[in-house]
Amino acid sequence: MALAYNFLFFCLSLVFFISHSEAKTSFKPKALVVPVTKDSSTLQYLTQIQQRTPLVPLKLTLDLGGGFLWVNCEQGFVSSSYKPARCGSAQCKIAGSESCVESCLPKGPGCNNNTCTHFPGNTVSHVSTFGELATDVVSIQSTDGSKPGQVVPVPNIIFACGATFLLEGLASGVQGMAGLGRNKVSLPSQLSAAAFKLDRKFSICLSSNGAVFFGDVSFPGIDPKSLIYTRLIRNPVSSAGASFEGESSAEYFIGVKSILISGNVVPLNKSLLSINKEGFGGTKISTVFPYTVLETSIYKAFVKTFIKSYSNIPRVKPMAPFGACFNSSFIGCTHVDAAAPEIHLYMPANSMVRVGKHAMCLAFVDGGVNPTTSIVIGAYQLEDNLLQFDLAKSRLGFSSSLLARQTTCSNLTSNVFKF
Ligand SMILES: *[C@@H]1O[C@H](CO)[C@@H](O)[C@H](O)[C@H]1NC(C)=O
Ligand SMILES: *[C@@H]1O[C@H](CO)[C@@H](O)[C@H](O)[C@H]1NC(C)=O
Ligand SMILES: *[C@@H]1O[C@H](CO)[C@@H](O)[C@H](O)[C@H]1NC(C)=O
Ligand SMILES: *[C@@H]1O[C@H](CO)[C@@H](O)[C@H](O)[C@H]1NC(C)=O
Repeated sequence: MALAYNFLFFCLSLVFFISHSEAKTSFKPKALVVPVTKDSSTLQYLTQIQQRTPLVPLKLTLDLGGGFLWVNCEQGFVSSSYKPARCGSAQCKIAGSESCVESCLPKGPGCNNNTCTHFPGNTVSHVSTFGELATDVVSIQSTDGSKPGQVVPVPNIIFACGATFLLEGLASGVQGMAGLGRNKVSLPSQLSAAAFKLDRKFSICLSSNGAVFFGDVSFPGIDPKSLIYTRLIRNPVSSAGASFEGESSAEYFIGVKSILISGNVVPLNKSLLSINKEGFGGTKISTVFPYTVLETSIYKAFVKTFIKSYSNIPRVKPMAPFGACFNSSFIGCTHVDAAAPEIHLYMPANSMVRVGKHAMCLAFVDGGVNPTTSIVIGAYQLEDNLLQFDLAKSRLGFSSSLLARQTTCSNLTSNVFKF
C-alpha cells in the first residue's frame, strides 16, 4: 500500500514537473500557417482560422489588401474571451479608430458601451458599415515550412465586428474576411507583434490547395535567393469603402513600369502607372479580383498588342467577362502555362484562361475609364506563384510560376497540414 502511494506520488510530481517546465520554456513558433482553398462558384480564395472560447472554426474570404480581420458578430457569436475595445485604449489607437460609441443596446458581441469602432467592409460587393472593435483569441497551426507544428493560441487579436448583411456576395459558409493588409492591425502585423515575435513577413501561395504562411519559412526546393524582388509602394489615400480621414491605403501597390507581350511593349499613358496625390492610378495586387483589371486605354492597347504579337491565332466570339478570346486549337500547351503567350507586367503572369472546350481568353478584363487604380493584378495571375511580402524591408518577392520548377502550391502545403 505504501509502495502504491509512493508510486502515485512519484507520477503526480513527474506530471507536475513536466507541465511546469513546459510553461517555462513556452513554445516559440517560427511561422504559422493557414490553409487556402478556392471557391469554385465565386472564385474567391478562402481560409480558415479558429477563434473564441470555446474555439470555433471560421471560414473567411482572404483579402490581401484588407486592413484587418472582420467577422459577423450578429449571429451565433458566443465567446467567454471576447473583449470590446474601450474608447481611448491601445487597441483603438493602433487600429487608428477615431470614433467612440458611448452606449449600445442590447449589449452583446458587437454592441457594448464605451467602445471604439472601425469600418468592416466587403471588398467583393463593395459595401461597408461601422462595427465595434474587439479582441479575442485565435488559434493557428505552426510550421517550419516542411512539417506541421503544434497549434498555437494567440490571445487578444484585434478584429472588427461585421454584420450579417456584409456577408452578401461572399462564398457560402463564409463568416467574414481575413485582411492581410499593410497596417498595424492586419493579421500579419498582429501575428508578428504577438508574444512569440514572428519575422515581419508573410507568404501566400494561391491555388485550390494553397496557404498563407506568417513569419519566416523556408520552403523545400525554393531558394529564397531565386525570388525576384520588387519594392512595395504606399498609396497615401485609403482605397477602402469607408475610412477615417487621412488613413493611408492598406493595399499592396507595386511599380509596374511597362507591360510586355512576348517582348512587344504595350504603348500606354505612363501617368496612369503612378499614384497621384488623390490616390488615383498605379498598380495593386488583389486577391478579391479573380482576374487582372486594366483601365480602358491600357486594356485596349494590351489586346491590340496581343493580337499583333499572335496574329496567327484566330479569334472566337468573346465570352464575358473577357473581351478577347481565341481558338484554343491554335494555342500551344506548354508545361508552364495553359498557353504559350508570355506576358510580363514586371511580374510574369498567367495569361490565358480556358473557357469552354474550344476557346481560351486573355485572362484580363476591361476596368472602364477613370478607375481608382489603373492596374489591379488579380488572383488568377498569382495562382501557383509564391509571393513573399517582406514588411520590414518593404518589398515583395515572387517566385514566377512554380510550375516551371516542377512544383505547385499543393506541393508546398501538402507537408504542413495535418489532415
Ligand atoms: C450603457 O449605457 C446606458 C446609457 O448610458 C446605460 O443605461 C446602461 O446601463 C449602460 N450599460 C452598461 C452595461 O453599462
Ligand atoms: C494620361 O492620363 C492622365 C491621367 O489619367 C490624363 O490626365 C491625361 O490626359 C492622359 N494623357 C493622354 C495623352 O491621354
Ligand atoms: C478552331 O479551329 C479548329 C481547327 O482549325 C476548327 O475545326 C474549329 O471549328 C475552330 N473552332 C472555332 C470555335 O472557331
Ligand atoms: C509535387 O507533387 C506531385 C503530386 O503529388 C508529385 O508528383 C511531385 O513529385 C511533387 N514535386 C516536388 C518537387 O516535390
